[in-house]
Parts: sequence; C-alpha cells; structure tokens
Amino acid sequence: MQEIKFYSGEKLPLEQHKARIVQKINLVPIERRLEALYEGGFNTFQLNTRDVFLDMLTDSGTNAMSDNQLASMMHADDAYAGSQSFIRLQKAVEDVLGKKYLLPVHQGRAAENLISVAYVKKGSLVPMNYHFTTAMAHITDKGGQIAELLYDEAYVVNSSHPFKGNMNIEKLEEVIIQKGAKNIPFIRMEASTNLIGGQPFSMQNLRDVRAIADKYQIRLVLDCSLLGENAFLILEREEEFKDSDMGTVIKAMTDLADLCYFSARKLSSSRGGGIATNSIEIYRELEALVPLYEGFLTYGGMSVREIEAMAVGLYETLDDSIIRQSPSFIKYLVEELDKKGIPVIKPAGVLGVHLDAMQICSHIPQSRYPAGSLAAALFLVSGVRGMERGSMSNQRDEYGNETFADMELVRLAIPRRVFTLSQIKYVEDRVTWLYENRGLIGGLKFNYEPPVLRFFMGKLEPVNNWPQKLLAKFKEDFGDSL
Ligand code: F0G
Repeated sequence: MQEIKFYSGEKLPLEQHKARIVQKINLVPIERRLEALYEGGFNTFQLNTRDVFLDMLTDSGTNAMSDNQLASMMHADDAYAGSQSFIRLQKAVEDVLGKKYLLPVHQGRAAENLISVAYVKKGSLVPMNYHFTTAMAHITDKGGQIAELLYDEAYVVNSSHPFKGNMNIEKLEEVIIQKGAKNIPFIRMEASTNLIGGQPFSMQNLRDVRAIADKYQIRLVLDCSLLGENAFLILEREEEFKDSDMGTVIKAMTDLADLCYFSARKLSSSRGGGIATNSIEIYRELEALVPLYEGFLTYGGMSVREIEAMAVGLYETLDDSIIRQSPSFIKYLVEELDKKGIPVIKPAGVLGVHLDAMQICSHIPQSRYPAGSLAAALFLVSGVRGMERGSMSNQRDEYGNETFADMELVRLAIPRRVFTLSQIKYVEDRVTWLYENRGLIGGLKFNYEPPVLRFFMGKLEPVNNWPQKLLAKFKEDFGDSL
C-alpha cells in the first residue's frame, strides 16, 4: 500500500476519486434546526434529511457508489429464478470472500435473523467480541443470550492499542467450559467492532478464536459488514501483513470462519446482504429459510440491480485506495479533535469518529442519555447528524430495567467518498465550539419508548430549556451565520 506524501509535510488525506454526480444539501437556520429536533423527539433517527446538512448518521447504504457499480445496474437480469445477476454475485463472493455457497438476504440483520432461527434456542449462549444491536436483538428474540468477551483495553477511550476488537481468548474458553459447548451454537466475531468505535481485531486473534472453536467443535461466524476496513487496518498495523494486499488479508480472514454474513449496505457500498459458506451442511441448514423469510434463492429480497452493484462493489473492496478513504478521513478528524483535547475514541478506527459523551457530558447521568443529548446538541449547532451509541441504544433487561452502556458515544459516520475535507473541517469547528460550551448541554428523557430497538423509533424531550440556552449562545457567538 502506498501513501501520497505532501512536499509541505502536511498530513492530509488525499481523495483518489473525482465527483461526477453530486447532490445539493441545505444548511437550514438554527431556529429551524431546533424545531426539527422537537418534531423528531430529539432522536436523530427521526430527523428529516431536508433539515440535515452533513448526514453522518451511518455509513449503511450511504457510501458513494462508483461509476462501474452504476453502470452494472443497467445490465441486470430480471428473473425470479436463475438470474444471471445472481450468478455474477456468486462468482464475486467466491473470488473475494472465498466461499462457494451464497444465500442472498435483503440486508445484514436478515442474515442475523436466519442464523438465529436456525441455531439459537432458549438456553443458548453466543460468545462474541462485542454485540451489534440487531445481532443481539435477533439472538435474544429466539431466547438466547450473548456474552461479550473483549479485553479491558477495548473500553479505554484514550488508547493506542491497534486491535481493541480482539476477543478475550482466555475468557472465551472459560465461558465455553462453564456453559458447555453444546449450548453454544456459534461464536460470533464482528470485523471492525462497531459499537466500541469501529475497532478492528488482528488476524492472530481470529486464528486463536478458530483454535478454540476447533477444540470445542463450535461454529465460527464472522460478521463481514466492515470486513474491508478491518483488513485495511490489519495491513497497516499487523507486522506479518505489512507487505500483503487486501485480497490476501480478506481471504485469510474469511478462510478462518465457517460462516460469513454481511450487510452489503456497508461491505460493498450497495444494498442487500448475504450469508456465505463452504460447508454444504450449513448451506442446507439455512437454505429453506431464505424463500420463507426473504425471497427466492437467487434474489433473497433484493432487486437484481442491487445484486449487480453488490458484485462490483465486492471486487472494489480489494482496492485499498477505495477502502482507505473513509479511515483516512476519520484519522484526520480524530487527530485534529484530539490535539484540542476533545475526548474521542483512539486510536482512530473505521466507520466514523466517536465522541466520548461520558467525558464531554460528564455532568449528565447515564439515565439522562449523555450521548443522545450530545448528538441532539451537535445537530442544533451544526446541522450535522450523528448517531447515539450509548444507553439509549441499549435494550432493557428481561425485568424491564435500564441497562447502562459501557460507553456513551456519539458516532459521526464518514461514509466512503461522500464528504470533502472542508466539510470535515466544518465538523471539527462546530464540535470544538460545542465542546467549549458543553456545560450548556442538558439531558433527555423518553416520552415514547417502544419495547424493541427503542433508539430507532423512540421520542424524547429535553429535561429543561437547555436547547434554547444553547441556541442563544450560538447566536451570540456566530451572529447571523447559519
Ligand atoms: N453487523 C454490523 C457490524 C453492522 O454494523 C450492521 C449495521 C449490521 C450487522 C446490520 O446490517 O443494517 O444491513 O441490517 N449497521 C448499521 C450502522 C445499521 O449504522 O452501523 P443491516
């Protein structure tokens, strides 16, 4: 992998693409942003993009597509069964992920549903490096439980550990012995562990997990949604792979798993999802569930156009100049914020920049959702839409009690090839202003709390008139600027 250096010595992430189709975005006045917050129940999921300036909610389905992806959509083969588009996708999965059997699904959580339907029952325990919201919801929905087995350093915000997503191998073996291997349908490894700040695991760690899986005869499931970025960081950070390439690292990772699943909304800058395996037994165990829940086996709920874009997007994951764009912008923003003493998850990971609301809003108790409050406040002062990744995104326990998250984060997603560096600098500027005025941010409480995945649909309200005070201070400092 080669980096492009500047003569000036400045460390800038240089875009290796050009914009050919663009979309206009609007920065509406702060008064309108405040109204929008009330309309959306102070939940950034409930905002309307008409009011959003930089949409950093997620990288899911929002990565920029390439010209080749768009072109491929024009020769899609519309057929209920046996579509050539699916054959092309199967070939891409085999070439890139090294798996010959593919079950198509409409997105990542559909794969999680099918895997849970097939393997999880009451009393099952699924060990994982860390949960993802939808993965956990599907497992608990089928009566199972999860065990999160990260090393302690994963929870250290200001860290330089290169692989905070590593599974704690000693704890994994302990849990298996305690629970009994027969009650563990699979071990789940999530590439670029999302909820702790998009942090990768190392190849060595995955090999160690594989060894334990073999020892106790347990399936190893790899969530590949952010596989490309994890592979990229292995190339950058793991000595053994410093002269390797994306294709080799990706295959080495998927080779270690019995079953790979992914959200194509992330992995291949498209839509859709899939489950891939080389085991005919696993394929047979899941096969019947695809037509039952998703659609016929050669489209799985996706349009054939998406399938074509997914196939091309998968091949593009092998190009490190494409994959590096998002992590290098993230690194830039993390380093700039860190220089100013603003608490962010370090080292920079993938997917986005993660502000540490536990520190920034240390005056707001977890029961008043510091990360949700910070996300709402940031939208108010900038039009930047981030995502709460803290206690609001947690689900209540089986007795209905709040469970407080290990980390209270606001994620500012940086989808691939979408934003320019001046937009990133705007984010840096407004986050800095908000950090300096953080004392004005107050808490939130639910006034509508749905029982499942409450962070998507829930509505909240501020505990007092803090948003009005923040708006007044903004006007004082920025005058009539948007
Ligand atoms: N696994 C991981 C690691 C994910 O990040 C996601 C989605 C899924 C599974 C589920 O896939 O959305 O296609 O059903 N993450 C999105 C996000 C929602 O914003 O981080 P999906």
